[in-house]
Amino acid sequence: MNILLTGGAGYIGSHTCISLIEAGYNVVIVDNLSNSSELVLDRILKITNHMPFFYNIDINDKRALLNVFKKHSIDAVIHLAGLKAVNESILNPEKYYENNVVGTINLVNTMKIFGCKKLVFSSSATVYGVPEAIPLFETAHLKPLNPYGRSKLIVEDFLSDIFTSDNEWKIITLRYFNPVGAHKSGLIGEDPKGIPSNIMPFICQVASKKLERLSIFGNDFNTADGTGIRDFIHIQDLSDAHLRSLENINSVKDHLFLNIGTGKGYSVLQLVETFKKVTSQNIPYIFTDRRDGDIDICYANADKANKFLDWSTSKDLNDMCRDAWRWQLNNPTGYN
Ligand code: NAD
Ligand code: WQD
Repeated sequence: MNILLTGGAGYIGSHTCISLIEAGYNVVIVDNLSNSSELVLDRILKITNHMPFFYNIDINDKRALLNVFKKHSIDAVIHLAGLKAVNESILNPEKYYENNVVGTINLVNTMKIFGCKKLVFSSSATVYGVPEAIPLFETAHLKPLNPYGRSKLIVEDFLSDIFTSDNEWKIITLRYFNPVGAHKSGLIGEDPKGIPSNIMPFICQVASKKLERLSIFGNDFNTADGTGIRDFIHIQDLSDAHLRSLENINSVKDHLFLNIGTGKGYSVLQLVETFKKVTSQNIPYIFTDRRDGDIDICYANADKANKFLDWSTSKDLNDMCRDAWRWQLNNPTGYN
């Protein structure tokens, strides 16, 4: 089966690509490299012995996308291409709507032309906004707090409308919680451009002394130790959820929404202490003011995904920290 992986050169896409190749799928990557490096392809080759097809294409380039579908008989699409920086989305909302929303419309239009009606879409727990209750079920209210989150929710609604217009579509929307860690080989991992905004790459760069210390954004949250609680999920468990989605997509009866998390919450301080313990590295930190828009606690109820996908996470916080650190240690400047 030929799978189109948009955003396949990125953090989640590259790990998902490996899971798919190892399961015997032919992978076609479309990525404009706006937040990734072509060098990831050599690493995928090294790990799997297979080179996926790769097109340096923007999903908003209709003609180029059409040519990819002409060249390869695509059976299903996993759509990860998107911009994801919350702060940038506040400063430059039109860029996010154009890229994430218009890009998806363009992709779906192209799929329609070729009669390809199987789609797995990368959404985010960010669509829930401030939780009314914890854990978060898929049925929780949806009130994203920033343009990035709203661009994801608009795409979710658009995909529901696509299903309503034609029930032959099989659509699974995965709402990821906080993916962290790296492939066990240490050959691929998260390679943020500039100073990381997410916690795990920041911790890694403090451990490697690239950054002086971690700022923990707030110690007055409504949690046991005062720091925010999140549902950190190992990137390999997350990638496997995509594989399981493809394997089960024919049984989808409606636009299906699935939380992809572990169902467990850990605080920022617990994450820092675990990282220190498993890597024996020092992580100097200070407490600073809260970051705008950060919520106290966010973790999933993942029962629906566990059941539908016959999938569950197998890696714990120790694995996440150990694997993130191995990647950082082997690649102190990322892919370059
Ligand atoms: P990433 O930036 O590493 O990967 C996204 C990839 O998409 C990049 O390689 C980028 O170059 C590519 N891309 C962006 N716009 C494109 C376009 N118009 N045309 C072609 N390629 C384009 O990010 P990631 O962490 O791998 O995230 C993948 C998806 O998962 C994104 O849609 C993101 O919003 C979503 N998501 C990520 C997280 C997270 O914490 N990492 C959480 C929830 C959801
Ligand atoms: C986690 C915790 C911070 C950095 C974001 C997006 C979300 C999704 C996942 C894409 C929080 C604290 C962080 C730092 C800190 N992405 N922190 N110091 O905010 O839960 O989610 O990534 O969809 O949309 O918002 O993840 O890793 O940024 O933060 O103290 O330098 O770490 O306050 O409590 P977040 P994060």
